[in-house]
Amino acid sequence: MNWQSDLNVTETTFAPTLERWYERHKRDLPWRHTRDPYRIWLSEIILQQTRVVQGKPYYERFVESYPTVADMARADERELLRLWQGLGYYSRARNLHQTARYVTEQLGEKFPDTYHDLLKMKGIGAYTAAAIASFAFGERVPVVDGNVYRVLARVFGIEEDITTTGAKKTFAALATRLIQAADDPATYNQSIMEFGAIQCTPVAPDCLLCPLQQQCAAYLTGRQHLLPVKAKKAPVRNRYFTYLVFRKGDQIAMRERSGQDIWQNLYDFYLLETDEPKAALRELVLSEAVQKLVEQSVLTAPPVAVTQLLSHQRINAQVYLLDVPEELSGALPPGLSWYSLADAEQLPKPVLITNYLVRYVA
Ligand code: ADE
Ligand code: SF4
Repeated sequence: MNWQSDLNVTETTFAPTLERWYERHKRDLPWRHTRDPYRIWLSEIILQQTRVVQGKPYYERFVESYPTVADMARADERELLRLWQGLGYYSRARNLHQTARYVTEQLGEKFPDTYHDLLKMKGIGAYTAAAIASFAFGERVPVVDGNVYRVLARVFGIEEDITTTGAKKTFAALATRLIQAADDPATYNQSIMEFGAIQCTPVAPDCLLCPLQQQCAAYLTGRQHLLPVKAKKAPVRNRYFTYLVFRKGDQIAMRERSGQDIWQNLYDFYLLETDEPKAALRELVLSEAVQKLVEQSVLTAPPVAVTQLLSHQRINAQVYLLDVPEELSGALPPGLSWYSLADAEQLPKPVLITNYLVRYVA
C-alpha cells in the first residue's frame, strides 16, 4: 500500500478515528446485522425515502414478506406497492420490483458483487452501489451522500458549493483518498454516515464531545454553521392565471403573447392574472366588454385546472370554456382573433395550452 505517503496527518487519522467512534456510538439497526446484498439494497432504497426511525418498520415488513430477492421477484406488484405505501415516489418501488426480477431471472438470484456491476442495475446509483459493495462485499469504495458532504466540508474546511459538479468531484476524490486509510471499508462507510446523522448534525453539531474537534477546520474557525456551502435554489413563484376560452362553433379565440413575460410570441387565450387563486368567475374583475361577453355566453362545463412548471415559476391556470352566441361574434376583446381548431393546432403555443386543447377542446 502506498496511500500513506499521499495522505497528510488529518487524512490518515480521519477514517480510524471515525471507526473507533462508531464502535462506541452506533445504533443497533436491523440492516447492520446482515451481509446479504439483497437486504442491504432494500434498506438503502428505503432509507433514501425516509429517516431511520420511520424506515425501520418498512424494512422489517419487507423482509418478512420477501425474505429473499426471489421472493420479491415473485411478488404481486400491487402488494409490493401497498407495503411501500407512505414512502412516496412509487416509481422507486416499481424499480425495486424490476431489479429483483432481473437479479432473479437473469442473474440466477445472485446480486452483482462489485461496485462496477451494481451501478448497471436499475435504480442503483453511485451512493447505493458503494453502500452495497462495501457493506456486503467489503469493497473499498466510499459512500458519498449529504451526511458525507457535511462532515468532509467541515473537517477539511471545503467551501465549494456542494450543488456544483466541480464540488462533487472534489468530495468524491477526497472520500476515495480517505477510505484508503480505513481498517475496514464497511465499518468506515457506516461510521461516516452515522457520524453525520448523530454527531456532526446539520443544525447543532456536538463539537464539544467530538473526537475530530482538534483537527476540524470548521470547529477551529467557528464556521460549523456555515459549512457545507449549498446554493439556495431560486424559489418557485406561484402564478395564478384564469383563462377564458371563447368558442364559436369550431373556432376559438386566441392571441399572440407580447411583452417581456414568459411565453413570448406564443399563442394563448384571454388571460387574467391574479395574486391569489380564484375559485369562481364572479370573483374576477372583468372589463365591461368582457363581462358582457361572459354573461351572454354559455359555460359548457366546469373550469379545468392545468399547471405547468417552469424553471422558476409554477403556472396554475383555471380554464373556462365559454360558448359565444353567433350574434356576439364581432365583440372579441382587443388582441384576440378567431382561429379554426385546425389553424389553432398549427400555432406555436405553450405546453399548457396545447395540453388543454388536446384534452378538452379538440
Ligand atoms: N442512511 C442511509 N443508509 C444508512 C445506513 N446504512 N444506516 C443508517 N442510516 C442510513
Ligand atoms: Fe462536526 Fe463539530 Fe466534530 Fe467538526 S468538531 S466534525 S463540526 S461535530
